[in-house]
Amino acid sequence: LDNGASRTPPMGFNNWNSFGCDVSEALIKQTADIFVSSGLRDAGYEYVNIDDCWSLHQRDAAGNLVPDPAKFPSGIKGTADYVHSKGLKLGLYADAGTMTCAGYPGSLGYERQDAALFALWGVDYLKYDNCYNQGIDVKQRYQAMRDALLATGRSIVFSICEWGENQPWRWGREVGHLWRTTPDITDTWGSVVDIFHRNVGLHNAAGPGGWNDPDMLEVGNGGMTDTEYRSHFTLWAAMSAPLLIGADLRTMSQETMSIFLNRQVIAVNQDSLGVQARPVWSDGTRHVLSKPLANGDRAVVLFNEGGAATTISTTLQAVGLPGGGSTLTDAWTGRTSRTGEVVGAVVPAHGAVMYRIRADQSPPAGATNLVGGSSGRCL
Ligand code: GLA
Repeated sequence: LDNGASRTPPMGFNNWNSFGCDVSEALIKQTADIFVSSGLRDAGYEYVNIDDCWSLHQRDAAGNLVPDPAKFPSGIKGTADYVHSKGLKLGLYADAGTMTCAGYPGSLGYERQDAALFALWGVDYLKYDNCYNQGIDVKQRYQAMRDALLATGRSIVFSICEWGENQPWRWGREVGHLWRTTPDITDTWGSVVDIFHRNVGLHNAAGPGGWNDPDMLEVGNGGMTDTEYRSHFTLWAAMSAPLLIGADLRTMSQETMSIFLNRQVIAVNQDSLGVQARPVWSDGTRHVLSKPLANGDRAVVLFNEGGAATTISTTLQAVGLPGGGSTLTDAWTGRTSRTGEVVGAVVPAHGAVMYRIRADQSPPAGATNLVGGSSGRCL
């Protein structure tokens, strides 16, 4: 949605992947505190988002949604005030149907009333789900909430949580700031690979103000190795995906924290040009992605989804850079080296290497956008 919000992919936290319905004011406040004390806020993480199950099962007599007082003793307003006092923003979840996916009241027919309440509470981000939608046209339902949010006059990021069934990458930009492209992620390598394959070809849909959303991060949740989590984070960053942490920050390891805090990888995700990495070569399980950056550099990802280490290489020309000399920085080791025409690495099993490459000569005219052709694979 071109209203000035979300010019780069949103960064933050959402409780769903590690807590499910077990959300509370205490958890959200503790997470906000850790954003500040750990350096996550300074690294760009901004939204602390509440997922499903925050309300009571019934609206009040006036038809308003009511935060569950056992979970949110100071309400969403009190929680938002606290989060704002830390220099952060608050996100909330609602549903474009009669009930949320977990069976709490939905917003269908209550769009104006709910949006006004969310704005009053100080909500900065709305994840809007698609359960119990009564078969009503998807665009119509999401547009009703878009219009209601715009009518509040508050700047609210609008996240279309529609699992790709209705190809939201075809209409999402007119309606929201991000749209889900895939079914729910799980904390498994198979899920990360499946989602990567579904999302990577949709690069033409992404850009400032509207992003493909391959779902929230599972980094740190325990089902994958650190190598796999680094690959997950690298791929999501390169695909200009929202970087929404889904781990319990109160108990996460140092290694998990160092993944979230990798400034080189974050800079690629948050680059102001806002172009999603495009696949430039693949043999099915080995992949090369290239993402043009605002200063003329390219971020290049060599991704090995297979179970054995393998060499992956490409050329400067293939990733959209002029030949001749280049300087390359490895985003994970921080090491800088010189390279000729060929760029490659031995990539471990389930590994991903990310290079930022700066050519000695400026890129050929017109190469900045690397966009062209069709959007490729769709669901
Ligand atoms: C859907 C969404 C999830 C989560 C749950 C909550 O499955 O895709 O991200 O919000 O609903 O019930």
